[in-house]
Amino acid sequence: MLPRRRSRWDIPGSLRTLGLAACAGLVVSASDGGRRAAAQEPALPEEFEKPKRHFKIDRPAELSGAAALTVYMRVIDDMTAGYRLSGDRSAGAYRTWRRYNETPYRSATHGQRFVNNYANTLAKAYGRYEDAGDLPKGAVLAKDSFAVTARGDVFSGPLFLMEKMPAGFSPKSRDWRYTMVMPDGSLFGRTEGDGSGRVEFCIACHESAGAENDHLFFVPEEHRVRIHSLQPQGE
Ligand code: HEC
Repeated sequence: MLPRRRSRWDIPGSLRTLGLAACAGLVVSASDGGRRAAAQEPALPEEFEKPKRHFKIDRPAELSGAAALTVYMRVIDDMTAGYRLSGDRSAGAYRTWRRYNETPYRSATHGQRFVNNYANTLAKAYGRYEDAGDLPKGAVLAKDSFAVTARGDVFSGPLFLMEKMPAGFSPKSRDWRYTMVMPDGSLFGRTEGDGSGRVEFCIACHESAGAENDHLFFVPEEHRVRIHSLQPQGE
């Protein structure tokens, strides 16, 4: 008998709320025992207190996919320049990887921000979505984000990374290392690294995607890029 496949959106309500709260900056220091690393501390609040305006757009509520893409193309240089300051290799390189969504879409689980999903070469099976199987060591998925406020201001959001580490790295996360890089390049948290407790909520939610999906949710169907050459080719 086949196991029941969980829907991508079959996420416990409490985790959904936590995800939103985290992305809105409400979980800072929740599980970090008060430890403060200079590089991590101010990130989220500062983003809101001293927002860095890129530019303003009209009628954000009616942002079509094409309009979201136009906004994205105008802010991506600034976004990646910020992420790159983290010194993280993927944060500096992801922009050259393949993108798996046609246009930026709003992610309820990542703070209602507009997001994009990229995968490096080792993670190319990601393009087979639910048929991807277990991704190999070295596979990296990157999700960048930006927010458009009701008034039409555009801000960069965090960069969300998942990297498949060597077997045994973290059984709980299926050896995925989760990293959240703030728009200014500061590191919010990283599994088994600085601020590990701050990214535990990532594992908790991604777990609900199921082991059969290697904890991946994939791009929502309506936003998937159609690349026919990515279909399995009988290898
Ligand atoms: C409340 C649930 C939830 C939380 C919390 C969450 N995610 Fe996700 N994540 C999703 C969903 C759903 C998708 C796919 C749809 C989308 O883009 O919104 C996704 C997609 C991703 C992807 C693309 C790979 C994939 O699964 O398709 C990355 C990378 C990612 N998340 C990283 C993170 C990181 C890092 C954190 C923590 C800082 C995090 N996520 C927290 C639900 C969550």
